[in-house]
Amino acid sequence: MSEPGTAGVEGTEEPLVLVERDAPIALVRLNRPAQLNAISNGLIVALANALADIAAEPAIRCVIITGGEKAFSAGADIAEFAAATAGDEALTGRAAAWDRIRRCPVPLIAAVDGYALGGGCELVLTCDIAIATPSAAFGLPETTIGLIPGAGGTQRAIRILGKPLALEMILAGRRLTAEEALQHGLVSRVVERDALLAEARRIAGEIAKRSPVAIRLAREAVAAALETSLEDGLAREREGFAVAISSEDAKEGFAAFLEKRPPHFRGR
Ligand code: CAA
Repeated sequence: MSEPGTAGVEGTEEPLVLVERDAPIALVRLNRPAQLNAISNGLIVALANALADIAAEPAIRCVIITGGEKAFSAGADIAEFAAATAGDEALTGRAAAWDRIRRCPVPLIAAVDGYALGGGCELVLTCDIAIATPSAAFGLPETTIGLIPGAGGTQRAIRILGKPLALEMILAGRRLTAEEALQHGLVSRVVERDALLAEARRIAGEIAKRSPVAIRLAREAVAAALETSLEDGLAREREGFAVAISSEDAKEGFAAFLEKRPPHFRGR
């Protein structure tokens, strides 16, 4: 029998997440296609573990998370939830895994095709950037089955989409098309299916060209916009700016600009 968090397609040794490394980019594919990439306890732990491994590799500067054509992910595994009780160790483990994903020190790009529902939509909301195909569909249908979003959806959807639309999704099961998701800022681009990964890689490549120090500080400051007051967020930005301007990377960036050459950042 496989270790929890490694077995994918039931009865096989297929992993729950497939990781391809092509430095500076890693691609992580959710891999439970028969269950529409439903997020089982094993899958969320496997994803958190894969991101932790990748984050420990300095050569990787950005991660793309993707799923399949029919589903990026149809949300938490309802069959597993049906067997769970509050305080269940597995539920605690899930929450810890989601926290580890949220704190991933490497930028995350969601490349979404098909359904991104419930926890699948919450994974998109957790990523730094999301792009989608015209077939993508986003929803937070947890109340339909007597639950509420449990991986940040109630907090992030309000902040990103605004209250009326977020609440229509959460309370009334509204699904967003890719175009609506674009219009409301859940995704930054809609591209055809055959261009999805190339476009995600292009954006990841742009991130990877830039100063790792600046990318880290910028992510921290932007996260503060979602997590704290304006006052605290502005203070966080100011602190980040002070660290950035004293970094070796900034000195290299200034010199490269003035010398009209590409910069060579060292992440210091
Ligand atoms: N959990 C477990 N299994 C799931 C699943 C889920 N979330 N979503 C789909 N599946 C399974 C189905 O049971 C089915 O398995 P079988 O072939 O063994 O019957 C298989 O995937 C294919 O699904 P469907 O036959 O239902 O495919 P469809 O095309 O008719 O419908 C769908 C697709 C609209 C996405 C539908 O599957 C659906 O509504 N899924 C549930 C979506 C949902 O409610 N997500 C929220 C979960 S709760 C949550 O996410 C909590 C949280 O905040 C963390």
